[in-house]
Amino acid sequence: MQSDKADTAQRATPVLATQPTYRPSLAYPQPTEIDRVLFSEEQIREAVLRIGDQISADYAGQKLLLVTVLKGAFIFMADLVRAIVGTVEIDFMTVTSYGAAAESSGVVRIIKDLNVSVKDRHVLIVEDILDSGLTLKYLVKNLTSRGPLSVEVATLLFKEGKQKTDICCRYVGFLCPDEFVVGYGLDYGENYRNLPYIGALTPQTVD
Ligand code: IMP
Ligand code: MG
Repeated sequence: MQSDKADTAQRATPVLATQPTYRPSLAYPQPTEIDRVLFSEEQIREAVLRIGDQISADYAGQKLLLVTVLKGAFIFMADLVRAIVGTVEIDFMTVTSYGAAAESSGVVRIIKDLNVSVKDRHVLIVEDILDSGLTLKYLVKNLTSRGPLSVEVATLLFKEGKQKTDICCRYVGFLCPDEFVVGYGLDYGENYRNLPYIGALTPQTVD
């Protein structure tokens, strides 16, 4: 038993990759299903820094709870949290409204709730994209009912003219054309989240 453990420890010694490759984002292979790049890695970085600056100024001297909506917003959150100067806590929620399809069902379900209480806290919901707005509408209402000091929304993308409900986003990265987009955390059928840019899928792909 003892020697087994020792063996495992020896085998578990980490080995660092010896030849890290730097891959400029423009050279990142573009899957054939991507019609075109809408927002490059560079443009996204600038938008994230801009939003981070605004948040840092708006919440200066206050504690902020960032609520990330999984899975789509996980990369945005990872970058945004490092662009915010101040006291920040993060937590995660998983909700579904789409399943594997490209159209919102309008029915939002909480799959994973927050681990922390939002009571008497300033809450900022971090979303990847606002399309119909139904998901965020539900989330804002749900979190507001839990007694926070404030609830605001930061969304990286805001699809123009698609909203089926009134929803106020305090921080928006980009206005986005009415197309199904993927990359930088956003998926289609769980694929493409790893693309460093945001691109539109070809119409044939989204059928
Ligand atoms: P909404 O409820 O229609 O606003 O949709 C919200 C959620 O649907 C987003 O948080 C995304 O996860 C997903 N979604 C909406 N549009 C797109 C898209 O163009 N690409 C990938 N996911 C999307
Ligand atoms: Mg989302």
